[in-house]
Amino acid sequence: MPNITVRKMSGLQGEITPPGDKSISHRAIMLSSIARGKSRISNLLQGFDCQATIDAFSKMGISIHTSNDKTATIEGKGLRGLKKPDSGLYLANSGTTMRLLMGILAGQDFEAMLTGDESLSKRPMKRVTYPLRLMGADIAGKDDANLAPITINGTVLKPIDYKSPVASAQVKSSIIFAGLYADGITTIAEPFKSRDHTERMLRLFGANLKEEDLSVSVEGLGSSELKPQSISVPGDISSAAFFIVLGILAEDAQIKINHCGVNSTRRGILDALGRMGAKIELAERIESFEPIADIIVKRSPLRATKITKDEIPLLIDEVPLIALCATQAEGETIIEGIGELRVKETDRVSSVVTNLKAFGADIEAEGDSLIIKGPRKLKGAKVESFGDHRTAMMSVIAGAIAEGKTTVDDTGCIATSFPEFEHILASITNTGDSL
Ligand code: S3P
Repeated sequence: MPNITVRKMSGLQGEITPPGDKSISHRAIMLSSIARGKSRISNLLQGFDCQATIDAFSKMGISIHTSNDKTATIEGKGLRGLKKPDSGLYLANSGTTMRLLMGILAGQDFEAMLTGDESLSKRPMKRVTYPLRLMGADIAGKDDANLAPITINGTVLKPIDYKSPVASAQVKSSIIFAGLYADGITTIAEPFKSRDHTERMLRLFGANLKEEDLSVSVEGLGSSELKPQSISVPGDISSAAFFIVLGILAEDAQIKINHCGVNSTRRGILDALGRMGAKIELAERIESFEPIADIIVKRSPLRATKITKDEIPLLIDEVPLIALCATQAEGETIIEGIGELRVKETDRVSSVVTNLKAFGADIEAEGDSLIIKGPRKLKGAKVESFGDHRTAMMSVIAGAIAEGKTTVDDTGCIATSFPEFEHILASITNTGDSL
């Protein structure tokens, strides 16, 4: 099993370009596959999760050609052009693939079975299968279609007006995708705003969507088709975040992050760190359908903050990093409304608390909140990833600011979202202890 050893870094100077955004890459593959004609995607993320999406659509008859320069050409066969796969679709560790794909499969005219690895097989699917069933979808699976393997027998769908109990872009996107196949207007409302990449990209492909505060309505496409596009995927702010935090916490650091997505529904970490006193400079521009920025971060003293539950969807994948920053901030940081983190690739509340405690942090989970008292000097530790890419990378960054040596075990999972992580970390000029 691969592991990463890291020692305290300082004097960091460097410039990095994060890989393509994972959420946007999944959506680009999916929408290109169900549009009619050839789409071209550049800066596509080449991690395990997006490969699961590519494999699934390839098995359903879509020709997807990827090249080493991170471009993909996809010959979409139209809304109803997918073919029944010869066997089950194995989606590895990718929750986004499973949940979004269910929305597309619900409207096809064949049956497909979705499976995943041990972690994905434990993640809750009812949040998607329940509203899809309200639309008429024919879905079966363990625990009343809550757990994979899930079998979907595509059928004619009807529109719904649905209030989701969870603020989840995966749920929202799945229902919006199914809405493309329904005859009429499908509306989904969520308790707090979640990432809106699906809405932005679907508009680009020609769908008719309306957004109002916390709800999105989509019109079924009937016999019309999505139009193929040329898409440039912005850098993933959730991957960039590891280097943003490293630049803020490491001694004498300054790091520039190029071409990073800064969509307002994803940049919660920048806002939270700004409140904590972090020095962050942004030069923002709009690139086709998503805002992009070059970001410069510098070592900054931090103060504690409170993250409220309405903010969580805007920084859901960055909570482990915000917790790490809080260990270095003056005062008590409270992160509220973190229940959703318990059903990620692992129970991320427990993995983050366990690992940060191993480094000497004062952190506790109380109900749905994390309470972190700082600042605390972190000491190198031997920790594990729990098979979770974000826990693994956060632990490496903790090791890079801790005294002494840190080893993070079982780091193969990092390639889920950020295959070049270790290589990029090693590329930053470091006058501290060597890696
Ligand atoms: C994602 C949405 C988030 C996020 C996940 C990717 C997406 O999950 O945690 O990494 O691409 O829609 P939820 O929407 O379930 O919170």
